[in-house]
Amino acid sequence: MPNNSFTYDVIIIGSGAAGLGLALSLPSHLQIAILSKLSMSEGSTYYAQGGISAVLDEIDSLSSHQADTVKSGAGLCHEEIVELVVSKGKASIDWLMENNVQFSTDNKFTSKNKLHLTKEGGHSHRRVVHADDSTGRAVQTALSDQVVARSNIEIFEHHNVIDLVTTEQKNTDESRISGCYVLDAKKDVVISMKAPCVTLATGGASKVYLYTSNPDVSTGDGIAMAWRAGCRVANMEFMQFHPTCLFHPQAKSFLISEAVRGESGLLLLPDGSRFMPNFDKRAELAPRDIVARAIDHEMKRLGIPSVYLDISHRTAKFTKSHFPMLYERCLEFGFDMTKDPLPVVPAAHYTCGGVMTDKNGLTDITGLYAIGETAFTGLHGANRMASNSILECLVFAKQSSEHICSFLKSATTASSIEPWDDSQVINSDEAIVVSHNWAELRQFMWDYVGIVRTTKRLERAKHRITLLNQEINEYYGKFHVTSDFLELRNLVNAAELIIDSALLRKESRGLHYTLDYPELDDINFKKDTVLKP
Ligand code: FAD
Ligand code: SIN
Repeated sequence: MPNNSFTYDVIIIGSGAAGLGLALSLPSHLQIAILSKLSMSEGSTYYAQGGISAVLDEIDSLSSHQADTVKSGAGLCHEEIVELVVSKGKASIDWLMENNVQFSTDNKFTSKNKLHLTKEGGHSHRRVVHADDSTGRAVQTALSDQVVARSNIEIFEHHNVIDLVTTEQKNTDESRISGCYVLDAKKDVVISMKAPCVTLATGGASKVYLYTSNPDVSTGDGIAMAWRAGCRVANMEFMQFHPTCLFHPQAKSFLISEAVRGESGLLLLPDGSRFMPNFDKRAELAPRDIVARAIDHEMKRLGIPSVYLDISHRTAKFTKSHFPMLYERCLEFGFDMTKDPLPVVPAAHYTCGGVMTDKNGLTDITGLYAIGETAFTGLHGANRMASNSILECLVFAKQSSEHICSFLKSATTASSIEPWDDSQVINSDEAIVVSHNWAELRQFMWDYVGIVRTTKRLERAKHRITLLNQEINEYYGKFHVTSDFLELRNLVNAAELIIDSALLRKESRGLHYTLDYPELDDINFKKDTVLKP
């Protein structure tokens, strides 16, 4: 009989910056499992371009980084969390370098030998540390190598977590984590994993939208699983759209980094005129919500399929040395960015809301943590500032590692888990239901719950979600689970949380803009949208 049951001290679901950061911060006497849906490197972290924000320049200050973050967050940032994260910027960069991440230095561009800092929207100083324009690849590769070398860490690639398992504590309303059920997608069997500590590091939910900069794994699994297990979820209406993804049928919303605008790239209409100065005095370097909405407005006003991002006024040497990966990829799509303006459109990029946690990454369930994009810590408010995300992953990886260590000293072993029972289900002969519903969901989320919303469109979307939920529950009760089905179920859960949160916020703030309530309403809505299961 194959072994279908495993026991660890800590299970980490997700192998991006957050999950790997946590695994490497925990002591080596702990037995750790790391799971990822596809290969270990396939997540948003690998594709990060611009960089990681940290105060390193003498003319910059922690208070300036904090103030910029709070301003981008449109009144909803939790200031104590902003202070905590910003204060750990330099230590996080040092930690990455100790773990062999190689960042670009000034001497690549000038004669000075210190880290080169670029700029992005919302930042009033140069404070973005980067590895050319492939920062995520440098981080993911270096941390993965470190994790592979650790004998106390077992890696489970192509393992898709289905659901968390919790135990209710007698005579209290406390719920404790005991582990999770996992689909081994290669062998097509369900295994159970037991541990007193489980961490969700599953990334965001941007795949709920038809167009997204995110890789396929970003299906909101951690948020949906935590919600089903009884955790509160907050601020899901604040889905961030990145303003500049390449408009090309084969490019699959390939991101053109905000650092291009940081290095003086301009947004243009088809006639070559700039439009951002009409929307914000920071022009191309206004926060993302403002730039994405301005582009959407101009595209709708003029009936054009894209706007243009132009950096051809810089020398070819400058552009090729600052953006080597972008230059090569754009050439593959037929654009020479040293000469041509690039056609760009907004696409879903980042989930500002998520599973509610405290400053240690702890959720409402004892022993269950959430870190990285899947978590809601209060850092981003109503709009995340560029390059604050990987920093947040690293800071909360460290915070939660310390909390997990002290929790494990007093924790009893996790309760046992019933084996997965699929004796009542059969193989599906209706996989079309999954692919059809997947496509339908992403299309109506794009059309009805996108950059500009109305109550009527949100209600239409909610109505469709109700129908999808019925079909999914029916399917779940009848058929063996598949990875596609599990992702669809999570996407529908995440979409419903987005819609419900958006319907509750009867104002426009940050990334949530509705034509029915176009003004900011500080009196009634300067607060988080907290949903309880
Ligand atoms: P991810 O890196 O997305 O990893 C998620 C992991 O969870 C994956 O291993 C996945 O397989 C696993 N997983 C998910 N569900 C399950 C499940 N059910 N079972 C098992 N495993 C599961 N941020 C910045 O700060 N700076 C940037 O320059 C930047 N550029 C970006 C560019 C792009 C194109 C994108 C898409 C994002 C960018 N971001 C950037 C955002 C940032 O990259 C992400 O927010 C961050 O990397 C998320 O890290 P994470 O560890 O939380 O999740
Ligand atoms: C980018 O390089 O534009 C992405 C940066 C981010 O999302 O933080």
